[in-house]
Amino acid sequence: MDFKSFIRDVADFPKEGIVFKDITPLLKNPDALNNACDTLAGFLEGKQVDKVIGVDSRGFIFAPMLASKLGAGFVPVRKKGKLPYATEAASYDLEYGTDTLEIHVDAIEKGEKVLIHDDVLATGGTAAAVCELVKRLGGEIVQCNFLIHLSFLQGESKLNHVPVKSLIKY
Ligand code: PRP
Ligand code: MG
Repeated sequence: MDFKSFIRDVADFPKEGIVFKDITPLLKNPDALNNACDTLAGFLEGKQVDKVIGVDSRGFIFAPMLASKLGAGFVPVRKKGKLPYATEAASYDLEYGTDTLEIHVDAIEKGEKVLIHDDVLATGGTAAAVCELVKRLGGEIVQCNFLIHLSFLQGESKLNHVPVKSLIKY
């Protein structure tokens, strides 16, 4: 399927000069939605996955569907202050300043095989922080997968050779 045809470029969002990759045309089309989910799950063929992490907030759209398809559990990684129980935290750089992501300390058991999913890989700061959290809990990262990989931003270089897969590459 030509997934790119379901992505809408929106100029000057969230601020001037940025062309936003809008995935909502893909989400609202039943065939594209189903196909996208099957393709992302297909990237794990033959691999064991115990937990699928979805990254707050746009990673939450596909991660639970993927977990269900792969026979794995779903784990939310959330922005600071949103998780109720004890957490492990990792900070990452934004264009201006930093942000912090958190995971529950009991979300992953030592040695569990973990898939990290998010909608977009851009500079890689977000995904690198999630990798750090998984490693601290003793999980083994099987793959990071994304709907969209903005490869010209070289985010993959921050992910220490973890396998990266995406539906769409720009
Ligand atoms: C966006 C996107 C990814 C991240 C990618 O999330 O959904 O999570 O940026 O950027 P990076 O590779 O440069 O770190 P954002 O933090 O804007 O929040 P949202 O998912 O809640 O919209
Ligand atoms: Mg996000």
